[in-house]
Amino acid sequence: MAFTSLATAVCLLMVFNGCLASWWSLGVYNDLSERVVDSTPCESLTNILNSSQQTFCNYNRKIVNSIAIGTRRGIVACQQNFANWRWNCTTFTGENLFGAFVKNNTRETAVINALLTAGAERQIALDCRDEKLPNCTCQINGDNGVVNSTFFLYECSFDIAKAHDIMSKFLETPSNDDTAIIAEHNHNVGSNLVGQRYRKCRCTGFSGSCSVQTCYFASPDIDTIGQRVREKYGSSVEVTVNASNSALQPVVQTINNHDNELVYLKRSPTFCNQDTTYGILGTVGRQCSNNLSDPDSCDIICCGRGHITVTATQPKQCCSFIYCCRIECQDCGEETFTEYFCK
Ligand SMILES: *[C@@H]1O[C@H](CO)[C@@H](O)[C@H](O)[C@H]1NC(C)=O
Ligand SMILES: *[C@@H]1O[C@H](CO)[C@@H](O)[C@H](O)[C@H]1NC(C)=O
Ligand SMILES: *[C@@H]1O[C@H](CO)[C@@H](O)[C@H](O)[C@H]1NC(C)=O
Ligand SMILES: *[C@@H]1O[C@H](CO)[C@@H](O)[C@H](O)[C@H]1NC(C)=O
Ligand SMILES: *[C@@H]1O[C@H](CO)[C@@H](O)[C@H](O)[C@H]1NC(C)=O
Ligand SMILES: *[C@@H]1O[C@H](CO)[C@@H](O)[C@H](O)[C@H]1NC(C)=O
Ligand SMILES: *[C@@H]1O[C@H](CO)[C@@H](O)[C@H](O)[C@H]1NC(C)=O
Repeated sequence: MAFTSLATAVCLLMVFNGCLASWWSLGVYNDLSERVVDSTPCESLTNILNSSQQTFCNYNRKIVNSIAIGTRRGIVACQQNFANWRWNCTTFTGENLFGAFVKNNTRETAVINALLTAGAERQIALDCRDEKLPNCTCQINGDNGVVNSTFFLYECSFDIAKAHDIMSKFLETPSNDDTAIIAEHNHNVGSNLVGQRYRKCRCTGFSGSCSVQTCYFASPDIDTIGQRVREKYGSSVEVTVNASNSALQPVVQTINNHDNELVYLKRSPTFCNQDTTYGILGTVGRQCSNNLSDPDSCDIICCGRGHITVTATQPKQCCSFIYCCRIECQDCGEETFTEYFCK
């Protein structure tokens, strides 16, 4: 991934240009080898963290480290899950990590807020369970204990509620502008996905008889959360913010339950044409699929401009297993393959 080189550039740019990015950029801070972030003093994050987050960092350096690692995992999950979409979660160097268009509070902004929050919160829960943070431990109360004669639950579980509590303190929203209200809603959507925990068990009875099981609660992995967020991208709800009570009101009034949906204020750009001011690369030259049922079908990705078909050949190798024990390969002609690219 073009990720590592980019990350260093972001910070240099921010340090020297003094531009203010958002906490999202924690996810690309340095090359995020875990120790580098950990040993970075909070003061050098002034271009990423706003004043309240700076204060948070001063008292919770280790937690900010977990947030950075989790945010990065969220970004990776975003790029993997959206690789075949017109908007593919591209990141840039500088102030606007995902491009300036996200300031319009579109569905993509919602995806980013939900997925990066989920990544961070999940990482906090993981680090709590592994006793890496001073503020929390593995969850040993609640659901734990003997459930019935054959079923025990005593291993460390994720304490999702505590992780949520910690992340909320980091994201604390004293301001009441539309952007903050929308962001908070989408943070919670991401957070709820982390909270959809499930029971993982293994057999510990005599000779694997499974008469006793050891279980704990785990959270969905970040890739699964990424898939859920991508599904929600499709069903996200356009809203307005009621100025008198800050309530989110769906524009289409027949939608009455948007509590667990991503919400957005403005329609997205098409992402078809390049617009570098807003961080939109356009789809000229994008590889696409000639299969109409694929999400990256040329029909969708190329925005009606059509595509070019490139047929190429590559040397083929034929390998066989020789008894015993090696594999032998030989060149055996060429194979052709076809690729499609947007005009
Ligand atoms: C942001 O929203 C405004 C108002 O709807 C619109 O005119 C503008 O084109 C949008 N910008 C981008 C980059 O989508
Ligand atoms: C974490 O624990 C430290 C030390 O006890 C405390 O100062 C800090 O406020 C706690 N942070 C959170 C987010 O609860
Ligand atoms: C014990 O509880 C588990 C979890 O609720 C359940 O799946 C299992 O069937 C129960 N076993 C018995 C013997 O009741
Ligand atoms: C800092 O950023 C968070 C999350 O983006 C936001 O909720 C909070 O209002 C900001 N605080 C200040 C003092 O701007
Ligand atoms: C905004 O909220 C107020 C107070 O709850 C309500 O009376 C009003 O009808 C709402 N505005 C719209 C446009 O729905
Ligand atoms: C995302 O799309 C842009 C152009 O739209 C392309 O340059 C880039 O390689 C794509 N990234 C991935 C990871 O596919
Ligand atoms: C097109 O894609 C669909 C779904 O991804 C798949 O089931 C189908 O076999 C593909 N068709 C061709 C011709 O590859």
